[in-house]
Amino acid sequence: MKITIIGFGYIGSVIGAVLSNRGHKVTAIDNNKNCIDELNNGVCHVPEPLLKEMISESVKSGLLSGSISYKDVGTSDVILVTVGTSLSDENDADLTALHDVFKNLSNYVNEGQVIMIKSTVPPGVTRLLVNKHLGSKDNIFVGFSPERLAEGDAIKELKELPIIVGGINDASTEKCSNFWVKALGSEVITVSSCEAAELVKLANNQWIDLNIALANELAILCDSLPYNIDILEIIRAANSLKKGQHFVNFLTPSIGVGGYCLTKDPWFVSTLGEKNHRSLQLPSAGRSVNDSMPHYCANRIINKLGLNGIKIEDVKVAILGYSFKTNSGDTRFSPMITFAKLLIDQGCNQITFFDSTIGYNEQIQDQLLRVHSWQECVKKADVVVFGAAHDDIKSIKIDDLKELISKNAIVFDGRRFFNKKEIDIIKKLGLNYMGVGRTFG
Ligand SMILES: NC(=O)c1ccc[n+]([C@@H]2O[C@H](COP(=O)([O-])OP(=O)(O)OC[C@H]3O[C@@H](n4cnc5c(N)ncnc54)[C@H](O)[C@@H]3O)[C@@H](O)[C@H]2O)c1
Repeated sequence: MKITIIGFGYIGSVIGAVLSNRGHKVTAIDNNKNCIDELNNGVCHVPEPLLKEMISESVKSGLLSGSISYKDVGTSDVILVTVGTSLSDENDADLTALHDVFKNLSNYVNEGQVIMIKSTVPPGVTRLLVNKHLGSKDNIFVGFSPERLAEGDAIKELKELPIIVGGINDASTEKCSNFWVKALGSEVITVSSCEAAELVKLANNQWIDLNIALANELAILCDSLPYNIDILEIIRAANSLKKGQHFVNFLTPSIGVGGYCLTKDPWFVSTLGEKNHRSLQLPSAGRSVNDSMPHYCANRIINKLGLNGIKIEDVKVAILGYSFKTNSGDTRFSPMITFAKLLIDQGCNQITFFDSTIGYNEQIQDQLLRVHSWQECVKKADVVVFGAAHDDIKSIKIDDLKELISKNAIVFDGRRFFNKKEIDIIKKLGLNYMGVGRTFG
């Protein structure tokens, strides 16, 4: 099949790589010329495991290429739209890029073509774009298909997750559904309209954000109780409860929730309620809890140092893992940005970090010193913060760590989730273990 993908960022490049690796002819369109030039040279900077290799292979084989022009779009069987929809100043989806894309498409699309939006939008947007830009066109099939894959595991998830589609009419739903079955052999779940499909995505991310917020609040509660309770033990046991057809499924607490999606999609839900005269309580509650986690964690570290008579100005902090998601180098809205800023604002002036998933040329906070091995990062550190659990960070041995860090250092487990045995070893070595909801012993 001939497929055009418009918007070749994180999501566009994952979909483009997988489809071209399956033998489809994929053309990527992006208004960022640099990104297209790099693509045509087989280069990809999206920090997703395996992606670089797949893109380079597809470009070499001639199945994947890029353009900034729409002129060949009319020859594609299917057009997938994956441009960004960031949070606007009104706490809604910024639709500027989507309007621009549909305006361009209106000059080139032909009868029989299928257009599918993958960018996250509130219900009503797909139909609005069609009415506004393609209204006069006949026989174009348009649908919405929410992108639900998780960074760090995106390629596998694209191949394995059921794909939702909902069209502007039944014929569009069928065409969109047939595409995924034919292109990837996916399990497709059709819903009755594009509006329903649009809301599925927001419902998914609202659920995730709230679920993590609940785990985070329970973790904070555990830290406050005088009982040495480990939140992970509570979650493991609580998740054994079957309710209806499914089991309770608490996600895990951590140093914070980041990324491009979970930090904005609940606000889309909140604003959608407001626009329809319903004030929803939960979206902002979840956001507020999750946004507070980097503050909560930074303050606990500062308090602990204070109890030991140490000033934050005098300590070296090492951050292992700075991106927002395990095994992805995406730093967009990473909680580690807020966390580091809080320490800096409190006077900490020695922060190093190590994160091999982040591109070497990426600009990171000025005051942080980036180093290229975990050993260099933790050398003589008084506080070691596990901010992400990338594979190379997870494999660090406590005995090796101990050799390099300061005596009595704090090991702050923001997302690494050391098990009980490892925590016992950390303590026996004279180090101070701190986790999120894991204050025991
Ligand atoms: N990143 C994720 O994990 C994820 C997961 C699910 C859904 N989504 C959704 O998918 C969409 C894309 O997210 P992303 O992370 O890939 O964003 P991104 O910023 O990485 O990529 C967007 C791309 O679109 C291009 N672009 C912007 N305006 C354009 C225009 N007018 N014409 C052509 N190209 C244009 C940009 O140059 C960029 O390359 C968003 O709506 C997001 O909410 C993202």
